[in-house]
Amino acid sequence: KKVVLAYSGGLDTSVILAWIKEHYQCEVVTLTADLGQGEELDGIDEKALATGAVKAYVEDLQEEFARDFIFPMFRSGAIYEGRYLLGTSIARPLITKRLVEIAHAEGAQAVAHGATGKGNDQVRFELATTALDPSLKTIAPWREWDLKSRSDCLRFAKAHGIETPISHGKLYSCDRNLLHCSFEGGELEDPWNAPGDLAYAMCVSLEDAPNESETITIDFEKGDAVAIDGEKMTPGEIMIKLNELGGKHGIGRLDMVENRFVGMKSRGVYETPGGTILYAAHRDLEGITMDRELMSVRDGLIPRYAEMVYNGFWYSPEREAIQAFIDKSQEHVTGTVRLKLYKGHAIPTGRKSPFSLYRADLATFEEDDVYNQADAAGFIKLQGLRLRGFEK
Ligand code: ARG
Ligand code: SIN
Repeated sequence: KKVVLAYSGGLDTSVILAWIKEHYQCEVVTLTADLGQGEELDGIDEKALATGAVKAYVEDLQEEFARDFIFPMFRSGAIYEGRYLLGTSIARPLITKRLVEIAHAEGAQAVAHGATGKGNDQVRFELATTALDPSLKTIAPWREWDLKSRSDCLRFAKAHGIETPISHGKLYSCDRNLLHCSFEGGELEDPWNAPGDLAYAMCVSLEDAPNESETITIDFEKGDAVAIDGEKMTPGEIMIKLNELGGKHGIGRLDMVENRFVGMKSRGVYETPGGTILYAAHRDLEGITMDRELMSVRDGLIPRYAEMVYNGFWYSPEREAIQAFIDKSQEHVTGTVRLKLYKGHAIPTGRKSPFSLYRADLATFEEDDVYNQADAAGFIKLQGLRLRGFEK
């Protein structure tokens, strides 16, 4: 019997590795995916093997993550509950895809993850697994074992020769990748507590952000960013560069109470520096390139698309069908946006496109010879027809 485990190398997933092996009497293969968490992954395979894995995969998936997950989602303008840019949610389908592929390559019967029984991540891992291969079983130790507390985990770790960090005080539950870093738990569990200095990873504070603004341009082709300041880059490189720029100016921090799919409210602090710049630039370019009614229909789909990603339905007929619509809607979202970055803001200050629908000759406040202002009187009169009510 064989299981493929999503393994970060941290204490929790190390305990999980040893627990699965013992409890299920099976072989454990680990997958550690580099999605841009910015941690050293050197030596993680040795650690997995030392903790009892029969084989350890360590893979750099950053480019695929940016190209096939972050970028398609950003084409849609997805934003959850009006604020959250879905940095954790969008990573789960990719990790699951690799777990399933490795399970097939290794002849494993199950995949395993370290998400708790209270959160969204378990749902995302398991719905994605079901969609990709319904015959695979899932093991979710947090829902199964009787390790009730942090000290139970530490005791189990010691008994199984797993290195434990000296300080017991891991302050937050964090998840970092190319799109964002999240902080949950600790003092943040009281929604009134302001986040402390340690709830920063990718961004400087506004106080520490430079007092001088910085101006950049982003080029887009069919809704995807392709260059910064005229320099062509891959999706992964774009994310890295925008994170650096956004982080430096303290752009993209969010502190919110959100609704988890399982039904509870939860408080999270998020840093999405590059994503926040990208979101603002993309939206701005649509202003000049997208037809009004197309935008209206697309905007109506944003909350639905965001829910599909948040709730774990990336691999679903509805997300794929909406994606086809979204991709079509981006056909002319090509051009350049100029933005000013300053103290937490990414402010568009100019946009241009070969597919611009903007007509200066129509919009001008100066004299023109293409639009007859007198036509507007009839337009307004007929629009108001049904508002006249019971007038005799
Ligand atoms: N609340 C966010 C979400 O559901 C972030 C979850 C963070 N996950 C984690 N394993 N720390 O997408
Ligand atoms: C977890 O519960 O494992 C993390 C938080 C979440 O998935 O929402």
